[in-house]
Amino acid sequence: MSQPALKPIILIDYHPPSGDIRQEVLEGLALPQKRLSPKWFYDEEGSRLFDQITRLPEYYPTRTELGILHTHIGEMAELIGSRAAIVEFGAGSSVKIRILLDNLNEPAAFIPVDISGEHLLDAARQLAMDYPNLEILPVCADFTQAFDLPVPAETANRNLVFFPGSTIGNFSLEQARQLLKVMAIEAGAGGGLLIGVDLKKDSATLESAYNDAAGVTAEFNLNLLARLNRELDADFDLNSFAHRAVYNEDKGRIEMHLVSEKNQSVNIAGQQIDFAAGEHILTECSHKYELQEFAELAAEAGFTMRKVWTDPEKMFSVQYLELA
Ligand code: AVJ
Repeated sequence: MSQPALKPIILIDYHPPSGDIRQEVLEGLALPQKRLSPKWFYDEEGSRLFDQITRLPEYYPTRTELGILHTHIGEMAELIGSRAAIVEFGAGSSVKIRILLDNLNEPAAFIPVDISGEHLLDAARQLAMDYPNLEILPVCADFTQAFDLPVPAETANRNLVFFPGSTIGNFSLEQARQLLKVMAIEAGAGGGLLIGVDLKKDSATLESAYNDAAGVTAEFNLNLLARLNRELDADFDLNSFAHRAVYNEDKGRIEMHLVSEKNQSVNIAGQQIDFAAGEHILTECSHKYELQEFAELAAEAGFTMRKVWTDPEKMFSVQYLELA
């Protein structure tokens, strides 16, 4: 039996610089407050651990967002309207995009945007098998800066930027402001934004979501050091650094650290880095928002809040915003 021919998927590649891990890591560890970017979490092992995190009992965001999407997708589809070109920022879990593709009224095209071309093509090919009639136009770009969108064969009624997962939380307020401006550019006049935003809540609930009993988040955080050992020939002793996640109420964010449990020196890419006992590396910030706070931030980029959906306990939100 011959297989039906699949349309080839063509990657639009802007060749974004993917970042020099060696240089960026050494720069971050030379700061008075040592830091490592959360973008380095996601090597193969880190992606596997993150996937496990999303299924932990304490980690409410993924399951809550999926629940909101499933419950309200009909209303979302109605607001978004027919023939939207869906522009996903970050080629994330295909579970969420499939909910949109299965429920929106004749989407005009799917345009996933990611800094990793390989990941992007894999995900696009996978999706193409299940949606043979959907035009998929993957774009390899750094979405924190404006880029040109491909034009779908079928004229779209509007662009819909999709940014689930509260990934916006990883950005500082200043960066989030800039990112929303880029999203407004990509959405264009009359365009929309469907975004998942984690909400402020009591610190006990937040801290347990990032300090799970099974220790998966600790493993995820420590994998950053294991990765540096693997890729940069570093010699971090994983037993003398501890995972810590605390809610900074002032800044409205979870801060994840790796705390050095003793005075120690580490060699990394040929350089020696010293740690005092108790000194920590900041590895991730995860900002939480009040609904009003986020609405104001988005308004600065020209977005008007059209509808917010939450779970009954108001843990997480999915929000639909539009440009005039
Ligand atoms: C993928 C950034 C949304 O901040 O909750 C989960 C990452 N870090 N547990 C988050 C994460 C530790 C996650 N985001």
